[in-house]
Amino acid sequence: MSRTIIVSNRLPVTVLKKNQQIEYKTSEGGLATGLGSVYKEGANRWIGWPGIFLEEESDQLQVAADLQADHMHPVFLTKNEIKEFYEGFSNETLWPTFHYFLQYAVYDQKLWETYRRVNQKFCNEVMKIAKPGDTIWIHDYQLLLLPQMLRENLPDSSIGFFQHIPFPSYEVFRLLPWREELLNGMLGSDLLGFHTYDDTRHFLSSVSRILGYNNQQGLIDTGKRTVMVDAFPMGIDYDRYEEVALSEEAHRREASFRKSFDGQRIVLSIDRLDYSKGIPQRLEAFEGFLKRYPEFHEKVTLLMIVVPSRDQVGKYKELKEGVDEMVGRINSTYGTLHWRPINYFYRSFPLESLSAFYRMADVALVTPMRDGMNLVCKEYIASKTDQKGVLILSEMAGASKELSDAILINPNDQNQLIQALYKALTMPEEEQHMHMVQMQESLRRYNIHHWVNLFMDRLSYIKIKQLSMATT
Ligand code: F6P
Repeated sequence: MSRTIIVSNRLPVTVLKKNQQIEYKTSEGGLATGLGSVYKEGANRWIGWPGIFLEEESDQLQVAADLQADHMHPVFLTKNEIKEFYEGFSNETLWPTFHYFLQYAVYDQKLWETYRRVNQKFCNEVMKIAKPGDTIWIHDYQLLLLPQMLRENLPDSSIGFFQHIPFPSYEVFRLLPWREELLNGMLGSDLLGFHTYDDTRHFLSSVSRILGYNNQQGLIDTGKRTVMVDAFPMGIDYDRYEEVALSEEAHRREASFRKSFDGQRIVLSIDRLDYSKGIPQRLEAFEGFLKRYPEFHEKVTLLMIVVPSRDQVGKYKELKEGVDEMVGRINSTYGTLHWRPINYFYRSFPLESLSAFYRMADVALVTPMRDGMNLVCKEYIASKTDQKGVLILSEMAGASKELSDAILINPNDQNQLIQALYKALTMPEEEQHMHMVQMQESLRRYNIHHWVNLFMDRLSYIKIKQLSMATT
C-alpha cells in the first residue's frame, strides 16, 4: 500500500513532563489542527519534534514507543538545537523575515549552521523509515533544506513541500544571507505549494532573480528536473467543526458561559501569541471604538483568547508584557462594577469550549498584520450553524482571498477597524445570514480533504510529467 510520510517540525501531539510523568496534549497552530485529523488514514506516518527537551534516554524510549503506536516518529532535539534551530533560525530569522517584520530579524551564521544540521537530522530520521514508493510530504519553513537533502538520498521519490506561512516578495527574501541555499533546498521537491497566488508569485520571482531559473506557468526547469509550483489554499475539517458546534456539550458550555456575559454582545478573537497577529493594534482599535461609541459601553465585550507560544523568544516575551499592560489599562479606564470591556485569557481551551465561544460570538475579529492563511476565521464560519454573526478579516491573511463576504480591513488602518466594528455590531440579521451562507458553502466544499487530495493529485501529475519528459 502506498504511504505518505508527513514531516514537520512539530508533531500534532506535544509531550509534557509533569512530576516525572510523561503526558500528551494536542499541539497548537494551523498545521497540527489542519492535518491532525487526516494523517491517520491508511498506513501514513508523521515525523516531527514532540515539543520538549527530554534528557533521559528512558523518557525518549517511552515517548518513541507511545507515539509509534499512533503512527508518529519523534525527532528529539537537544537544548542547543531548540535554542538555535527552533527559537533561533526558524523563529528569529525566517519567521520575522517571511512576515515582513524585518526589524526583528536576526542574521547569525551560528544559527544557520544549526538549522542546516537539524534539517540533516530530520533527513536521517526520514531515511530510517522511508521505503520505495512512499510519498514524502514536508511542511513549513523550519525544514526548507530537507527536500534537497532527501532528494540526494532518494533521487526518484515523490517529494512535496507545503509552506504554511507567507512567502515574502523578492526584495525582502533577498535580504537573507543564505537565500540561494534556501531556494535550492526547497527545489529538491517535485511540487511546492503555497496558500495564495501571491506567495507563489513571490517565490517564482525569487527563484528567477536569485537562481536564474525561469518558469512556464509554474513549471521550473532546474536543468536536472522539472519542479511544479502552485497555490493550494488550505481548508479545515468543516464537518468536524460543524458537528462539535451542534453537539450537546458545546450547547451546554455556551449556556454556562453566556451567564457570565449578562446579555452583552460578544466580539471574539483567538490567536497564538505572536506579533504577526496584530494583537496590540486590535486592542487599540477596540479602545478607539469604545471612545467613539459610548452607547456600546456595558453592551459589548471583547473576548480575547491568546494561546501561549514560543515564550522563550525575546520578542514574544515583550509582546506578552505589552498586551497584559494594554488590557489592564483599557479595563481600568472603561470598566464599571458590572462590566469588563475585555475578557482576556492567556491559555488554550478544548475544542468544545472554543466551539461554544464561536457560537456565542456576534463578531469574530481576525486582524493579523500578516498571516499565511489563518484557519481560526474558517473555524468560526463552520461553527455558526444558525448563520448569524459577522467576520471582520484582515486583508493580510491568506484567507481574505477566499472570504470576500467578510468585512475586509487593513489592520494598520485604525479608523477602518473602528468603523468595521460598528458596521458588524449593527448589521441586520438578513445581511449576516446572506454573507454567512456564501462563506459556509465555499468552506464546506474546499475543505481539508479537498486540499489534501488536490495536492496529492498534482504531485502524481508532475511525477508522470517528469517521466514523460525524460523519455522524449
Ligand atoms: O502554521 C505555522 C506554524 O509555524 C507551524 O509550522 C507551527 O507548527 C505552528 O505555526 C505553531 O508554531 P510552533 O510550532 O512554533 O508552536
